[in-house]
Amino acid sequence: MSMVSTPPALRTVNLVKIYQTGGLPVPAVRGVDLTVRPGEFVAVMGPSGSGKSTLVHMLGGLDTRTSGEIWVEGTRADTLGESAWALLRRQKIGFVFQFFNLVDNMTVADNVELPALLVGASPKHARERRDYLLGELGLSGKADAAPAQLSGGEQQRVALARALANQPQVLLADEPTGNLDSRNTKDVLRLLGEVHRQGQTIVLVTHDARVAGLADRVVTLLDGQIVDDGAVLSARRRPKSGAGDVVELRG
Ligand SMILES: Nc1ncnc2c1ncn2[C@@H]1O[C@H](COP(=O)(O)OP(=O)(O)OP(=O)(O)O)[C@@H](O)[C@H]1O
Ligand SMILES: [Mg+2]
Repeated sequence: MSMVSTPPALRTVNLVKIYQTGGLPVPAVRGVDLTVRPGEFVAVMGPSGSGKSTLVHMLGGLDTRTSGEIWVEGTRADTLGESAWALLRRQKIGFVFQFFNLVDNMTVADNVELPALLVGASPKHARERRDYLLGELGLSGKADAAPAQLSGGEQQRVALARALANQPQVLLADEPTGNLDSRNTKDVLRLLGEVHRQGQTIVLVTHDARVAGLADRVVTLLDGQIVDDGAVLSARRRPKSGAGDVVELRG
């Protein structure tokens, strides 16, 4: 490997978010230092209210930080304005929200194709990618449906397909399996495993130990701070536990 050092895919320095609600400060993220290497798959865990969504939203430029720094592939990003963030996301970052965020008056197919078309992919290429992703997620039959006609779990998978439309270098996902039964969770995990093998960086919020078991590393938040940060070798090597099919997926 060349020693010309590759910058981290993502890095935060003393990142802080304090919401102001009705004049009362609500500290959501309190001094997070996080470095994610290119190609690394990081699971973010922690109890409800610990700041997981707030953290990944800031990493994607969807929420502004109160103080601290955010770097995306060696570029300082916390100082960017909204339109520069939008461009950065379009080029490098796919985002799956905890609460879907699909465009309601567009079909499933159009929702998934849109990001690719926005960066100038040919309609043919966008369509092929869409067909592939919907197929992988068991949604081929829903291409012409409107998001409102889908179940929560289906909408969530559409949101994942959309986030992956551009093969983003960085995938940020907030509870992408939160509403899914085990079969659909398996589909999502298989696709995430594939994305990971292709070298894309993944930062994924989850409550699900099976999902975390697929990651290289689990970062645990508590009250807005990292309280644990470690590799998950044990989960990967465990032979016949509930994580068994996840192990297989690593291929
Ligand atoms: N827009 C907001 N305005 C004010 N406070 C907020 C806002 N969003 C989140 N918070 C608060 O910030 C803290 C962290 O919230 P966050 O949504 O990041 O938690 P989380 O770890 O994602 O929780 P969950 O597992 O329930 O999704 C909580 O105390 C929450 O009430
Ligand atoms: Mg959340």
